[in-house]
Amino acid sequence: MTMETVQADPSAPGGPALFSTMSTMRAMRRLKPEPVPEELVEQLIQAAVWGPSGGNMQCYEYVVVTDRQVMARLAPLWKRCVDAYLATTGKYAPEGMDEAAYGRMVAAIEYQRDHFADTPVLIVPCYRFPEPRLDEEGLAASARALGPAGTEHMMNTQTRFQALAEGSCVYPGVQNLLLAARGLGLAANITIWHLMLEQEWKKELGIPDDMATFAAVPVGWPAGNFGPVRRRPVADVVHRDRW
Ligand SMILES: Cc1cc2nc3c(=O)[nH]c(=O)nc-3n(C[C@H](O)[C@H](O)[C@H](O)COP(=O)(O)O)c2cc1C
Repeated sequence: MTMETVQADPSAPGGPALFSTMSTMRAMRRLKPEPVPEELVEQLIQAAVWGPSGGNMQCYEYVVVTDRQVMARLAPLWKRCVDAYLATTGKYAPEGMDEAAYGRMVAAIEYQRDHFADTPVLIVPCYRFPEPRLDEEGLAASARALGPAGTEHMMNTQTRFQALAEGSCVYPGVQNLLLAARGLGLAANITIWHLMLEQEWKKELGIPDDMATFAAVPVGWPAGNFGPVRRRPVADVVHRDRW
């Protein structure tokens, strides 16, 4: 039996607009210091909350910083993280990136580092899994389903599994937030370097010990220009039916 390919539904909501939003959503690190209206901040969090989470557990919380004094206390923490990054992983251009493009990125990173206290809004997505409810009967059934090697692998990779599972529950929402920002004409970029000093950030923001943070997203009106993202061609990244 031959199957006909179903073409995209031209009446799908926002098709072309969504694609142009995605293809021009650069990491925007140069922000104007002017505040962002509260309604827009709320729309960003709404977009994040619309993201999926495993089992629809929705155990996310978002810390939204707009207070100038709090931001001023975070700025030195951000500077230490950026300086650590630029001294190590960020010291050399990643493979495939030309020196000029890398130089422009580093200049934008340094700009953001040096103006961090003026960031209008900083959003810190957090997540905490509830304690799993496990019983012996269920664990035995799981071991039978996975088999001995699968069960051993699962036991040995619990930490990674848990971290990835939590991240997987947070990052779809973060991507929604970034897209919403782009759609509203706001500049934003996902960052994770705060993780280098996560304990200090959590202390400064009063985040509970058992709550993990996953990103710090500075948001504001763009001081730079939106434009097309530079990415590898689709044909280079696809493996059809098998690697
Ligand atoms: C998981 C993740 C973590 C990132 N962390 C940082 C970060 O800590 N600091 C930063 O300046 N950019 C960070 N970025 C932004 C990337 O550097 C940026 O998206 C990438 O260089 C592509 O640039 P473009 O989005 O402008 O095309 C991160 C992006 C991702 C997906």
